[in-house]
Amino acid sequence: MMTRRKAVTGILATAATAAPPHSGTPQALTPRSLPRPRETGGMPLLSALKLRHSTREYSDRPLAPQSLSDLLRAAFGVNRPNGDRTAPYWRHVMVIDVYAAMADGVWLYDPKAHALVPHLSADIRAETGLQDFVATAPLNLIYVAHGERMTDVSPEERRLYASVDAGFIGQNVYLFCASEGLASVFRGAVDYAKLGRTLKLPAGQFVTFAQTVGYART
Ligand SMILES: Cc1cc2nc3c(=O)[nH]c(=O)nc-3n(C[C@H](O)[C@H](O)[C@H](O)COP(=O)(O)O)c2cc1C
Repeated sequence: MMTRRKAVTGILATAATAAPPHSGTPQALTPRSLPRPRETGGMPLLSALKLRHSTREYSDRPLAPQSLSDLLRAAFGVNRPNGDRTAPYWRHVMVIDVYAAMADGVWLYDPKAHALVPHLSADIRAETGLQDFVATAPLNLIYVAHGERMTDVSPEERRLYASVDAGFIGQNVYLFCASEGLASVFRGAVDYAKLGRTLKLPAGQFVTFAQTVGYART
């Protein structure tokens, strides 16, 4: 039987050798494995609900690898053997990709491998929103929709259902942050067209929302 480590290594090797997802994918960045995510623990749900709130002042302290791993798993990771996720999603179609914009570049979260696939080598944090704190907070998640997978609905419905999917992920992130003493804010104040161009999204894909994560500036 293939061990989890071998499976991840295999997927990462494939990701490293496969054609890059979009032109401009950096050669300098290599796929980055994440520590095994915690699947138990944390704060009781009712306590986390009591603490959930939005934060708009961040320190530049980076997230520890374990925190990043746990966060991504909470956001939209696999929580069942059939590959389903911690957040519900439209018609059982995987519409949302979660990108992580950090100081060292932009990474695409691969939930099956639970790894980060390099996407861009630039620090684009300042372009992930219209508020100053996005440029220095350690992590901005970008929820990108595959509109092309939503085949038999109108463009308005695509935007609606993709936004709902992103909203569920956003609330997972909020609650995880509340539980872990992290700070977060879900954001719609984004120049969507510009960010889509920066991310080199192919036709059909679009940015829904972004969400900043880090430590509150005290
Ligand atoms: C769809 C949506 C878009 C939002 N966009 C922004 C935003 O661009 N910038 C921001 O600072 N907060 C944004 N927020 C956060 C809300 O302002 C915040 O949740 C609300 O003021 C309530 O505060 P709380 O989250 O602390 O309870 C957004 C929230 C939602 C649900």
